[in-house]
Amino acid sequence: MHVFHVTSEVYPFSRTGGLADVLGALPAVEATLGMQLSVLSPWYESLNGEPELIWSEGGLKLGQIVRNNVRHLFLQTPDFLRPGMYHSDDVWRFSHWSRSVFYALERADIDFDLLHGHDWVAGLVIAHATLRGKPSVYTVHNLQYQGRWNGPDAMPWTGLPWDMFTHLGIEHYNSLNPMKAGLVYSRFTTTVSPTYAREITTPQYGEGLEGVLQELQAQGRLVGIINGLDQQRWNPRTDLAVSPYSDYAGKQASIAALRGEMQLDDAPILACVSRLVEQKGMDLLLAALPELLQHWNVVLLGNGDSALESAFYGWAHQSNRFRYYTGMNEPLSHRLYAGSHGFLMPSRFEPCGLSQMIALRYGSLPIARATGGLIDTIPADTGFLFEEPLPEALAQAAQQARAVIDHPQVWAQRVASGMQLDFSWEASAHKYQNLYQRALSQG
Ligand code: ADP
Ligand code: GLC
Repeated sequence: MHVFHVTSEVYPFSRTGGLADVLGALPAVEATLGMQLSVLSPWYESLNGEPELIWSEGGLKLGQIVRNNVRHLFLQTPDFLRPGMYHSDDVWRFSHWSRSVFYALERADIDFDLLHGHDWVAGLVIAHATLRGKPSVYTVHNLQYQGRWNGPDAMPWTGLPWDMFTHLGIEHYNSLNPMKAGLVYSRFTTTVSPTYAREITTPQYGEGLEGVLQELQAQGRLVGIINGLDQQRWNPRTDLAVSPYSDYAGKQASIAALRGEMQLDDAPILACVSRLVEQKGMDLLLAALPELLQHWNVVLLGNGDSALESAFYGWAHQSNRFRYYTGMNEPLSHRLYAGSHGFLMPSRFEPCGLSQMIALRYGSLPIARATGGLIDTIPADTGFLFEEPLPEALAQAAQQARAVIDHPQVWAQRVASGMQLDFSWEASAHKYQNLYQRALSQG
């Protein structure tokens, strides 16, 4: 079986968050199960890698890099010759990109059995695949980004026929909605945790698509499959970005190193590595900071919303216990996971979340909101979960954690159980394989 993933980002070639990490890890594990694997993503100008050119015509280019038995394909259209990854004209750019996919594949003589599309960009490719009778599975990593365009004007950009612009197709309340195309045209929709799969059928989490998702659920077409972690990339026992360690005693060197590097006082350390967006509850963190800084040092790495960035810069100047860093900085993120006691994740919603799994593996206990994948991956006797998306609730959970730190043996026990959790990809890769087989058997 040749499975063909389509995504807008893939580690290590292009990355803004967890989507890239999933595509950098899952296909390689699927390949070990005997399937043939390809991953198609845009050939960004800023791509981290040099694909071998396998086909080109006019402004279109298709290149490839083979990594871990996975064939990574990169498709460039002229609109991708600019810095950065995402831009305000993305509905237009990705509409053109997705309509070029089959054009390029057919000319480069590349075929596959099943398409596995990820997030809204792939929703468009799934619509094109459906026109060619190709079966697909669709994974929602984040329901908030749907690639919507008000009104029907964007429909011609997609190259899809107008008869797809209906309430049974890509249209949603008279707007173009690529994510909805992924939902309705794929044989199965998955999302990245069982709890989020239930949550998105409710108005609170459904982002306006809860009606469609309820129908999929009733038809047995909505499935939650939890993400895993890349076991080699995130392993404190072998991590050369820190002093490798395998238990809480060994972790002390990393905590001391971070304290020294950032000139922090003796209070325990909380870390946060996150996009600064509403989803991640970074405004809750901001509001809870005065309380948190009474008992902890807090180190934040992340960028996004400019008002939040300035507010955090302000705090970094004001408080000796707060440090703030911006930019995509993977080595620093490793030092933060390794060098912190606790890890903050006050998400409003969280489809899966990888950071809390990394934190657990590195012996940093998550203080996280009880939502989505955070519920499914953080055992209640290990991390500290809170219900309400309120700064007081976050501060209270941090206070509970602080009280446990004063009982070093209890804390060390929680750290040990977190470090032993199994976040490998194998079980989930088997679940995807079963789903692919079911999708293919539907003829
Ligand atoms: P999301 O994909 O919604 O951002 P996840 O928890 O699934 O959230 O994945 C986030 C990943 O991105 C984690 O591996 C985290 O360490 C990483 N990350 C986020 N911001 C940064 C940053 N500024 N520098 C380095 N890594 C980051
Ligand atoms: C999205 C979600 C995050 C998830 C990631 C990978 O970015 O926000 O929760 O872990 O995709 O599936």
